[in-house]
Amino acid sequence: MIDTTIEHLDRHVGQEIRLRGWVYNARSSGKILFLLVRDGTGIVQCPVVKGEVPEEMFAQAEKLTQESSLEVQGFVREDKRAPGGYEMTVKGLKVFQIAEPYPITPKEHGTAFLMEHRHLWLRSKRQNAILRVRSEVIQAMRDFLAEREFVCMDAPIFTPNAVEGTTTLFETDYFGEKAYLSQSGQLYNEATAAAFGKVYCFGPCFRAEKSKTRRHLTELWMLEPEMAYADLDDEMALAEDMTVYLVERVLSRRRRELQDLERDTSKLEKVKKPFPRISYDEACALLQKKGVDFAWGGDFGGGDETVLANQFEVPFFVHRFPAAIKAFYMKRDPARPEVILGADLLAPEGYGEIIGGGEREDDLAALEKRIGEEKLPRAAYEWYLDLRRFGSVPHSGFGIGVERAVAWICHLDHLREAIPFPRLLERMYP
Ligand code: 4AD
Ligand code: MG
Repeated sequence: MIDTTIEHLDRHVGQEIRLRGWVYNARSSGKILFLLVRDGTGIVQCPVVKGEVPEEMFAQAEKLTQESSLEVQGFVREDKRAPGGYEMTVKGLKVFQIAEPYPITPKEHGTAFLMEHRHLWLRSKRQNAILRVRSEVIQAMRDFLAEREFVCMDAPIFTPNAVEGTTTLFETDYFGEKAYLSQSGQLYNEATAAAFGKVYCFGPCFRAEKSKTRRHLTELWMLEPEMAYADLDDEMALAEDMTVYLVERVLSRRRRELQDLERDTSKLEKVKKPFPRISYDEACALLQKKGVDFAWGGDFGGGDETVLANQFEVPFFVHRFPAAIKAFYMKRDPARPEVILGADLLAPEGYGEIIGGGEREDDLAALEKRIGEEKLPRAAYEWYLDLRRFGSVPHSGFGIGVERAVAWICHLDHLREAIPFPRLLERMYP
């Protein structure tokens, strides 16, 4: 007997195999019971034919409800018309549990209902496809950086200081001391980059986002590379190469999932170097040309990003933002001190920012001044200032939000589907 999974049925045509899974759907035509069985790797049709199996087995099969757990045995046949292209007529059946009436039926359900049942919703074909793409994206990011000899250096989650401004901090009690959940591992990356050269961290980041949007989670996963002796152009080149790599990898290894999602892959095939690079000034002019009421100095809102991101067919960089709207650590452009040497990568098709990064302020005095201006508690940043006291070098890096990247690659309407258990302003259950 061969134990296998549905995604590998192509290797077993004509052989007798055994699968373990759950009933995705069951319908009867009297003499034949059509079981759709899922095992997490795919879905296969398994007919149970009356007269061809013992009577008690057929009776047992008739009791199977949606999501009942079972083991099925039979010969694999190729069948072009069957979902997935294969079929397995059941010869043996073992039932583990007959499921109670399953709340998620093939009919349409509202988003609130599905979110309330996220632990079960994950079993659906669509969610399976999205989260397999997510897993591929994460593996691809790590492979990409490993190939380029980046060292993985994880950053802490309990932190004494803010990275991305104090308005989105989650505060917690750390044995009587105030601690914050990390918004980004960047500051620690800067320390490890000075120790190892090229590093990255990957982990959950927390933002107390008080607005309900399709682009914001309160808990997101971010991958952040950081390089010593690197400037803004080096940072954009790395972000560009990584983005091309991620898309190619999903296209080559997760095409079936993209098909299940009805993703127009011709849009992804266009993601090639070089990506357009426009300055913040040019982005402003573009918004104004499109009739958006936007003045120089403002930060892009979701709507502005959508307008910009609809002008391009491939991801594009917006660089040199006004210093006043960006974090304290960003290096000023020596040629134009009112802007910083930072860049965001915006995904096309209306998606907007998926990557934020740039060159870091490497001058001690300039950094001390910025910490003062932002009224940040100086003591919590002493260790960070040390990095400018002991062998400061030009350095740069970026952060890519996994859910934003997955939402774009899969063409999702909302980030909530791009992570197994989303944390949102109004949701922490299940
Ligand atoms: O642009 P952000 O805030 O940049 C940083 O945190 C830098 N310290 C990263 C670095 O340079 N090492 O966040 C980076 C990315 C965004 O482009 C976005 O993709 C994602 O993280 N992101 C969010 N994703 C979902 N929900 C949120 N609330 C997010 N905030 C940021
Ligand atoms: Mg940003």
